[in-house]
Amino acid sequence: MSQQPELEARLEDQNEFEPPESFVEQANVSDPSIYEEFDENWPECWEQAADLLDWSEEYDQVLDDSNPPFYEWFTGGSLNASQNCIDRHLEERGDEAAIEWVGEPTGEENRTYTYEDLHREVNEFAAALREMGVGEDDVVTMHMPMIPELPIAMLACARIGAPHSVVFAGFSASALAERMNAADSEYLVTANGYYRRGDALDHLEKANEGLEGVEHEVSDVVVKDRLGDDAHGHDLADNQHDYDELVAEHAGATVDPVERDAEDMLFLMYTSGTTGEPKGVKHTTGGYLAWNAWTSQAVLDIKPDDTYFCSADIGWITGHSYIVYGPLSLGTTTVMYEGTPDHPEQDRFWEIVDDLDVTQFYTAPTAIRAFMKWGAEYPDEHDLSSLRLLGTVGEPINPKAWKWYYKHIGDENCPIVDTWWQTETGGMMVTTLPGVNDMKPGSAGPPIPGNDVRVVDASGDEVSAGEAGYLTVEKPWPGMLRTLYQNDERFIQEYWAEYSDTDSDDPEDWVYFPEDGAKIDDDGYITVVGRVDDVVNVSGHRLGTMEIESAVVASEGVAEAAVVGADHEVKGEAVHAYVITEDGYDGGREMQDQIEQSVEDAIGPIARPESIVFTPELPKTRSGKIMRRLLEEIANGEDLGDTSTLRNPDVVEDIQQQVGSE
Ligand code: WTA
Repeated sequence: MSQQPELEARLEDQNEFEPPESFVEQANVSDPSIYEEFDENWPECWEQAADLLDWSEEYDQVLDDSNPPFYEWFTGGSLNASQNCIDRHLEERGDEAAIEWVGEPTGEENRTYTYEDLHREVNEFAAALREMGVGEDDVVTMHMPMIPELPIAMLACARIGAPHSVVFAGFSASALAERMNAADSEYLVTANGYYRRGDALDHLEKANEGLEGVEHEVSDVVVKDRLGDDAHGHDLADNQHDYDELVAEHAGATVDPVERDAEDMLFLMYTSGTTGEPKGVKHTTGGYLAWNAWTSQAVLDIKPDDTYFCSADIGWITGHSYIVYGPLSLGTTTVMYEGTPDHPEQDRFWEIVDDLDVTQFYTAPTAIRAFMKWGAEYPDEHDLSSLRLLGTVGEPINPKAWKWYYKHIGDENCPIVDTWWQTETGGMMVTTLPGVNDMKPGSAGPPIPGNDVRVVDASGDEVSAGEAGYLTVEKPWPGMLRTLYQNDERFIQEYWAEYSDTDSDDPEDWVYFPEDGAKIDDDGYITVVGRVDDVVNVSGHRLGTMEIESAVVASEGVAEAAVVGADHEVKGEAVHAYVITEDGYDGGREMQDQIEQSVEDAIGPIARPESIVFTPELPKTRSGKIMRRLLEEIANGEDLGDTSTLRNPDVVEDIQQQVGSE
């Protein structure tokens, strides 16, 4: 619209944006007094979230904080997540689309599941799972691409009270096995493949290989035939069932939703942390669902008549919370897309928005940086005027990308919510409310109402405006993880030990530490700058450098290695490996290939290093610890900080030279 240079310049200089009047008028939340009201009325304010759900048994306490950090929310209440996401919408919205699925091949028709359709298939699959012997609290693993059977399987599990553990389809066979072992999961739902950039990719071979690594007996495996004639011709083993046959065998079956205690586990999600071992984040039925229903309506402004599109993968938390549970709990239409944004052309998302009249679009900054690179002509070819709100999540967004998104996708007419949260928080924690607050590009905004998020220094005192510090959450919230699966001790160590008095039973003494660095402005807006632990964020995918490091070290001929994340123009961060070879190994191309393969086998192609540098030594402190910070600075091409504490300062120059000569 504003093609004129003076308007462009205006946008560049502008650092604060008001939400459009037209948006505010219709927003689910537009009264600024909500902040005060929630503060004064905490924790009872969260009854508002619980009220968005149907409870089969009313809860008798909003928050039980008698045993911190093992908080319980809506205690005494019971409900079922599948009933809340499906059954209760049938009467008014049975014929409306619940899931609008778009496959990657362009010739393929979309598959629309109305709430009736979803109800039917979830019931049938739930009946099948039950017949297989899946009982309450049995963990069912899913290793599936972006096909409708994934949310259907999740909801079928929720219906019978079986927690799901979804493993991102891009993760390797051994990552799958590791997660099934950790959760003692005896059931797997998977698919034979999926389409990616025009190819029919095999998935079952990897899933089968993963199953070989499971240490206990796996009783049943369900395989969805996604590829039909393009399938890679695997025979199903004796304990493997064809998804469609199972559903057909249970045609018309109904399964009463199991009443789950508010605190009963809804799902597990394995995520990366500081050590090599993934953490099994446990989310509950009442608190998690209430949190996602509330944030979906207050932040994403979802209404039942909307067509909402989140481009994340359901294999990550964003997809769980904001493709499946949040939107469906509100009875809206959620769009699911199988493929990549650049197939067959770089306008695929905009074509979807245009075709389906999408009203809200939620994506990651890494995608926005790619859109920018591809150019505005792609969105310009389409009518995006159905859009009312835009969102981002997963990593910091720089003001330039924010403004591009605002202008070229939102036509300067849609508020943008930059939402900070994590797998562990279950849902959004820091963001503007789009109908209330002004937006500041690059800064996520204030904590959502009723949420006590601060920026503190190493000793836990709040920093002054503009100074860098660490993010903390000083009050519990309903969507919080309850523990790490079967590992309460690690739960305390990882998230609470840093800033809490762990001997105290006073909730005031307990502070949650998300391991992010941040700064706060004098108006209370928080800018999250990134992780302060060994987690990297590659294209919005959360990976542990320690996990990658052990895969590098496992490769033949590697004596020692250090893996760090460094800035990357499109991916946000990229993985860099520094490797010392064993005697007799040369560190040539062949070894690089082997190391890449080892990382792909252990984690998946997303973790493949951007660069592998062979070096005779790694920079170490006098006490022998690898100085990863220096390696990060080298990878970023930055001036190096203090090297005087190194045992071997000369090595730094050697490595720099090698990086420079690449
Ligand atoms: C980062 C994804 C800046 C952060 C929902 C966090 C962000 C990690 C933002 C969690 C944001 C997420 N601004 N950084 N708006 N949102 N992050 O568990 O470092 O995959 O700790 O959850 O992503 O990643 P996770």
